[in-house]
Amino acid sequence: MKYHIKNINLASEGYRRIDWANSKMPVLSLIGDRFRRKKVLKNRRIGCCLHVTTETANLVRILKAGGAHVYLCASNPLSTQDDVSAALAKDGIGVYAINGENRREYYFNMDQVLKAKPEILIDDGADLISTVHKKRTKGVLGATEETTTGVIRLKQMEQDKVLRFPIVAVNDSLTKHLFDNRYGTGQSTIDGILRATNVLISGSNFVVAGYGWCGRGLAMRARGMGANVIVTEVDPVKALEARMDGYNVMPMIDAAKVGDIFITVTGDIKVIRREHMLKMKDGAIIGNSGHFDVEIDKVVLKKLTRRQRSIRNFCEEYTLKSGKKLYLLSEGRLVNLAAAEGHPAMVMDMSFANQALAVEYILNNKKLKNVVCTLPVKIDESIAHLKLKSMGIKIDSLTPEQKHYLTSWKMGT
Ligand code: ADE
Repeated sequence: MKYHIKNINLASEGYRRIDWANSKMPVLSLIGDRFRRKKVLKNRRIGCCLHVTTETANLVRILKAGGAHVYLCASNPLSTQDDVSAALAKDGIGVYAINGENRREYYFNMDQVLKAKPEILIDDGADLISTVHKKRTKGVLGATEETTTGVIRLKQMEQDKVLRFPIVAVNDSLTKHLFDNRYGTGQSTIDGILRATNVLISGSNFVVAGYGWCGRGLAMRARGMGANVIVTEVDPVKALEARMDGYNVMPMIDAAKVGDIFITVTGDIKVIRREHMLKMKDGAIIGNSGHFDVEIDKVVLKKLTRRQRSIRNFCEEYTLKSGKKLYLLSEGRLVNLAAAEGHPAMVMDMSFANQALAVEYILNNKKLKNVVCTLPVKIDESIAHLKLKSMGIKIDSLTPEQKHYLTSWKMGT
């Protein structure tokens, strides 16, 4: 099967939107120019499991320009932009992704990528890597992982000594998580909430569950729009940090009573569950921006419900047996990618620059162990330098005397 997409006739819209995103991805373009000139990926087979967005399309394009054969499936059933998959399919990429695909179709599409016997995997959430480990890892030289959730899963595989090839944790590069997780998730989550509901954020009690980089970004943006932000946490250090950043911190059971909008970004399961839903106010809005749709207990929500109906795209009304109404966004799946378009190209530029360089790193370093590693700091810094340059920002550099000072332990008081 050459591709499995919704409708090839959507390609022209896809091309236009991909080009627009490309104009905001100067670092990736520069890397792409080198890949094209030097054909650094000549005849390599690369399998990707990523959100099929305009930004991903630009990553896929530069891999192809570098000489690779690229195969792509979705990393979430609701995040595929069908016009993008059409444009990529037209350009000869093996795309297997349809927005709204069910679980069986999701894994069927992933299988099509694996049938191409990829040598390098680019993953987002670690479904592709974990699936290949259940099937056949022969021929896989290594993989990269985009997300916090995926890295946690893969580190567990490493601990359990079941990893069969090296992994580059792209998420752990500073030029990835400080920008993508924080500013990307912050903005795109607000975007998703607004597209799904058009509610006023200002004056709302906005509950952010989880104060990792995504939670920090979201809390910052919600506050910027005038919300009273409440953070829930299990980690005492992060909770303290949230408090000193100026947010209210409390357990979810207390936040449940006052919250107007609840967004989970923890990476863990059942963060919003029965006891919380029972305490929530009539009209409360619940959504998730964590990788998997496990953070809100949807099974319990359905059990508590007398009547369910769609109110708007990506906004489902649940009338509980008590008569109270709760509103679930995008079926509890990533609201920023399902109801909106994911992170803006400006930040994905750095994330995907890391991805592209991580693929090259695996190919150039055949002796990597079967562990989860990060890209060298020099590569991370080079991405930051290129990004600054693209933004027209110059910075200082150390004088020889300053360099010497930093490396000499003898100079003190
Ligand atoms: N993850 C979050 N936002 C994304 C985007 N725009 N493209 C691909 N992956 C993403």
